[in-house]
Amino acid sequence: MTVRHFLSLLDLGADELRALIHRGVEIKQAMRAGQAYHPLSNRTLAMIFDKSSTRTRISFEVAMTQFGGNAIFLSPGSTQLGRGEPIEDTARVMSGMVDAVVIRTSSHSMVETFAAHAQIPVINGLTDRFHPCQLLADVQTYFELRGDIRGRRVAWVGDGNNVCHSWINAARRFDFVLTVATPNGYRPDASLVDTAGDAVTLTDDPLTAAQDADIVVTDTWASMGQESEKERRSAVFEPYRVDAQLMRRAASDAVFMHCLPAYRGHEVTADVIDGPQSVVWAQAENRLHAQKALLEFLLVAQK
Ligand code: CP
Ligand code: NVA
Repeated sequence: MTVRHFLSLLDLGADELRALIHRGVEIKQAMRAGQAYHPLSNRTLAMIFDKSSTRTRISFEVAMTQFGGNAIFLSPGSTQLGRGEPIEDTARVMSGMVDAVVIRTSSHSMVETFAAHAQIPVINGLTDRFHPCQLLADVQTYFELRGDIRGRRVAWVGDGNNVCHSWINAARRFDFVLTVATPNGYRPDASLVDTAGDAVTLTDDPLTAAQDADIVVTDTWASMGQESEKERRSAVFEPYRVDAQLMRRAASDAVFMHCLPAYRGHEVTADVIDGPQSVVWAQAENRLHAQKALLEFLLVAQK
């Protein structure tokens, strides 16, 4: 069987993704009921992280531990990748020793090159283009709290960044309607928006996007690698802060989502992220359960 990767949500079909979400819910319930489950005993996940992480790193490491396996965390300077060993060679070598790899780095094409030369599943742990693991957790969170996301209205407010790109792919795969409100010059990638067809609409007006939305979602205005732009971005994004007034535009049972880390007083006010509509802690916890379902899919179900 050919090896499956998870570099973008589009690497899986709609039915596969739905099954994964349901499996994430089941795995979470079984864990909470105290049932031990060790489908990955003796299996090893390598984690190449070229950027900071709290949630992604911890959730994958804990997932492997709880599944009876092992994770190896590799920072860039600690491998020969940092000294110029070709990605292709590294992918071949690691394929002979470990069972899967998670990569977090800026360059999406680096991860694609790695995957093209790997004989083991490669998972995107965040690139400048996509953050697909985050969306598994976010969609699982909505299913658990409000039911099926199909046909729902989602408002993305802020930067048209990597997480926004994954929401665009999610709108295609899970059949919901996404309105993206960004300042001009900070829109998501046009080709991604085009391929999403009717599922995605762009606007520069946050209030239009939030109108009757079931989910209002935002992210930091300055992603990792954009630290030097922070001040300029803060000025441009000021009208895109998610506050109580914006949330009042949304449906009365709307939820507020954020992948975290969040910057209170910038992209979101404290009363919203710490308020009753916020589901950010559930999203963060679901990284663990959703990624367990992903690891099971890639390493057990595909055999
Ligand atoms: N949301 C998310 O990916 O968080 P980390 O950067 O902490 O992994
Ligand atoms: N857009 C953010 C997401 C962090 C999880 C970044 O890339 O830094």
